[in-house]
Amino acid sequence: MTKKVLVLLGSPRKKGNSAILAAQITRGAKTAKAKVETIYLHGKNIAPCKACFACQKKNSKGCSIPDDMQELYPKLIEADAWVIASPVYWFTVSAQTKLFMDRCFALPAYGNDPFKGKRIAVAMTYGGDNPFDSGCVNALRTFQDAFGYIEAKIVGMVYGSAMDAGEIRANQKVMQEAIELGKKLASGG
Ligand SMILES: Cc1cc2nc3c(=O)[nH]c(=O)nc-3n(C[C@H](O)[C@H](O)[C@H](O)COP(=O)(O)O)c2cc1C
Repeated sequence: MTKKVLVLLGSPRKKGNSAILAAQITRGAKTAKAKVETIYLHGKNIAPCKACFACQKKNSKGCSIPDDMQELYPKLIEADAWVIASPVYWFTVSAQTKLFMDRCFALPAYGNDPFKGKRIAVAMTYGGDNPFDSGCVNALRTFQDAFGYIEAKIVGMVYGSAMDAGEIRANQKVMQEAIELGKKLASGG
């Protein structure tokens, strides 16, 4: 069956390093016949969660904030797999990515068991030399804890060091790993 993959770009740089890795994952997923849609989070109006808990109430109609997350919720529910691409900003994920993740708190109001079995791929880029002291590992651990908690399945994570937009292309190993991750994301499960 054709898998639906939703790619969420968490960098303001539309053609930046994390977006390039996400594009490689997309290439791989498409060779496995997936239908892929890409969302550029920075171009969306997404407010921070205001902790009103309207989404957690019995028979909730969903998140009370009338912004662009409302068009994303059904897409997030419908997708078999998500690709989350983020740069490391100040030793963790970008603010755009974090806003999006916080607002996923409301997803259970839009569908039963919205995370269970969801297949996840993560693409991350960072400017430092070392994933351990640049914040990359910290950010990856955030995804591990979050998706472990909601019982989604992390199929794989690709990450590499690059500072200027496009620099990641020189890292042939991670570019290839990203294609392979896309294939795996769209074929298993
Ligand atoms: C505001 C800001 C904060 C950053 N913080 C970090 C950091 O904490 N650690 C790091 O290794 N690189 C940091 N970087 C560098 C980016 O992670 C790096 O350039 C990355 O490749 C950008 O990905 P992109 O092209 O997808 O935006 C930062 C860059 C910016 C603009």
